[in-house]
Amino acid sequence: MKKIIAANWKMYGNNNFVQEYFEYLTKNLKNNNKKNIIIFPSYLHLDKANFFKKKSNLFKLGAQSCHCNNKTAQTSSISAKMLMEIGCDYTLVGHSEWRNNNHEKNISHILRNVLTNNMTPIYCIGENLSDKESNNTESVLEVQLQNIIDNIDYYSGKIIIAYEPVWAIGSGLTPEINVISFIHSYIKTKISQKLPSLQEKDIMVLYGGSVNIKNTKEILNTNNVDGVLIGGASIDVKEFTNICNQEL
Ligand code: 13P
Repeated sequence: MKKIIAANWKMYGNNNFVQEYFEYLTKNLKNNNKKNIIIFPSYLHLDKANFFKKKSNLFKLGAQSCHCNNKTAQTSSISAKMLMEIGCDYTLVGHSEWRNNNHEKNISHILRNVLTNNMTPIYCIGENLSDKESNNTESVLEVQLQNIIDNIDYYSGKIIIAYEPVWAIGSGLTPEINVISFIHSYIKTKISQKLPSLQEKDIMVLYGGSVNIKNTKEILNTNNVDGVLIGGASIDVKEFTNICNQEL
């Protein structure tokens, strides 16, 4: 199974940055069919990113979120249909920074909309520091996973989940490697227990939170890790390209 290496640019970038980033990336990225590279720029930069995507065929594109329906009277929102048209195959759903701004616990309807518009959601889950300190990580994840279980009938391809402990995002801290492996296994088991027809190989779990050139190889070679979702280190195109080109 191809490992996923995903870059979440968050709210970073301007036109010059995007141009220079993709010129460098497409020139230096090894055509490696063992990895699936996905870039998540801001909405504003998707069009330019799509130009380089089509020209190089070296990476895929995704959006950082989308609205829960395609009705047009939604001031300030972006629909799944629009994202498809601009070259997105993937959408992040429920990133913790998004959850923080939107205060929505049940985001089942967004997942459903992404799936019915033939895009692949990468559903983000993770405990915050106080959940971790009070040993509630597993119960918090179980509640968040319910959105996947509720929408299982809409899945035709792989289920992709990003485990991103909130306390690890942008902090330089990561869980112990055996904890990452354990939590990923817990996530796969939880979903397949509820849905016995599903095999664990159909469930991909990416790790996100302070991933960089120094720790990617170890994380990607860990049992039950199917890829990484990188924030800060993906902004530096040289570091991100090196991460993608690393032999595993
Ligand atoms: P950092 O890699 O900057 O910790 O961000 C992780 C993240 O939020 C990716 O979605």
